[in-house]
Amino acid sequence: AKMDELRDAIDRDGFGFAAAELAATGECIGFVGITRTDYLPFLPAGAVEIGWRLAPEYWGKGYVTEAAEAWLVYGFETLGLDEVVSFAVESNRRSTAVMERLG
Ligand SMILES: CC(C)(COP(=O)(O)OP(=O)(O)OC[C@H]1O[C@@H](n2cnc3c(N)ncnc32)[C@H](O)[C@@H]1OP(=O)(O)O)[C@@H](O)C(=O)NCCC(=O)NCCS
Repeated sequence: AKMDELRDAIDRDGFGFAAAELAATGECIGFVGITRTDYLPFLPAGAVEIGWRLAPEYWGKGYVTEAAEAWLVYGFETLGLDEVVSFAVESNRRSTAVMERLG
């Protein structure tokens, strides 16, 4: 159901939080992507967010940072975005660590 919801956003905007697959096997391990996020009052209007979620057995292998770096290249170079934002609750250290690795 979540993937259907994410697919609708991709159909609407041309990009979104997309299935992340292991290159070697094609197995779906979660999602990584950029999406328009206009429902949060602390974000600028029309903000594009980068976000991620993997099944826990795939944490700690660098997959999210690898995929997110590729999404940032796509967002800045192909889509010509000026800014991509990300946010998490402070206690979510694994997620803020990805943000720090991405700069
Ligand atoms: C947030 C989340 C996506 C982070 O996943 P992650 O696996 O820690 O992030 P990365 O894929 O960047 O992996 C980095 C880890 O892989 C390790 N790693 C192993 N092999 C690696 C390699 N070849 N290259 C890079 N890193 C590698 C790194 O050392 C790092 O480990 P550490 O955290 O123990 O230092 C994951 O915890 C998650 O899905 N959480 C639940 C959903 C969630 O909170 N989403 C965000 C909401 S704001």
